[in-house]
Amino acid sequence: MSFLEVLIRTTFQTFSNGSKYSSASSKLPTRTDHTNLIEVLEQFTAKDVSVHESMMFVRKPPTVRRAPVTYIDVFDHALFTVGVFILHPNAVIPLHDHPGMLGFIKVLCGEIKLTSYTKLKKLSTSDHLVVCEESQILNSLSPPTILTPHERNFHQLEFAKGESEEHQYAAFLDILSPPYNSFSGKPECNYYYPTKYSQPSDQDECASKPLLELVKHSCPREFWNDAAPYLGPNRKQIAEKLKKL
Ligand SMILES: [Fe+2]
Repeated sequence: MSFLEVLIRTTFQTFSNGSKYSSASSKLPTRTDHTNLIEVLEQFTAKDVSVHESMMFVRKPPTVRRAPVTYIDVFDHALFTVGVFILHPNAVIPLHDHPGMLGFIKVLCGEIKLTSYTKLKKLSTSDHLVVCEESQILNSLSPPTILTPHERNFHQLEFAKGESEEHQYAAFLDILSPPYNSFSGKPECNYYYPTKYSQPSDQDECASKPLLELVKHSCPREFWNDAAPYLGPNRKQIAEKLKKL
């Protein structure tokens, strides 16, 4: 069994009985709730999903500016989506949210700066007051990061360092549940820009962390992605075997 199959099976098992983590739930998942998936993610590498082989098929256009980000669609399921985002030098995935979704981020190669925010309250239909969490530089040895519908759901990811002279990019595995296509008619994610820092009021139970006001806006023009082919283990076989579980 390939290690990708181990990951997909574990993800399926996590989310097939994980409906208690819906957006309506007030209970936050903890590391112990997802021990099996975290353990698999800790060992998961770029090799398990053939990232470097896929990147050999991404052309470098000589005259046109290349996409800052490349996406590899790894596995789509009714309960979850698995993909790999490759960040080229200077790339930024702008500040965005994943409304109602639970996500796992595992860096596979290079270094990525992750800045995340937890929503404190909605200020209007487009504005949110968020708590600034600590920024982290993540690499392939870093533990997976969890975002929940309630905690760290707003985040920005930036290229920090490439893997090597040969592979001058950084990449992370992204698992999201429910998958994007399950929200028909609703936006799948929203983009924001920060406006101003706020002082916590007596009612804001955010301790000493800074607060920031965010305003929703359209996807920044400088952010777009191209796609690389998936060249990992046979997905059809994994999907067929999943149906028998
Ligand atoms: Fe995200």
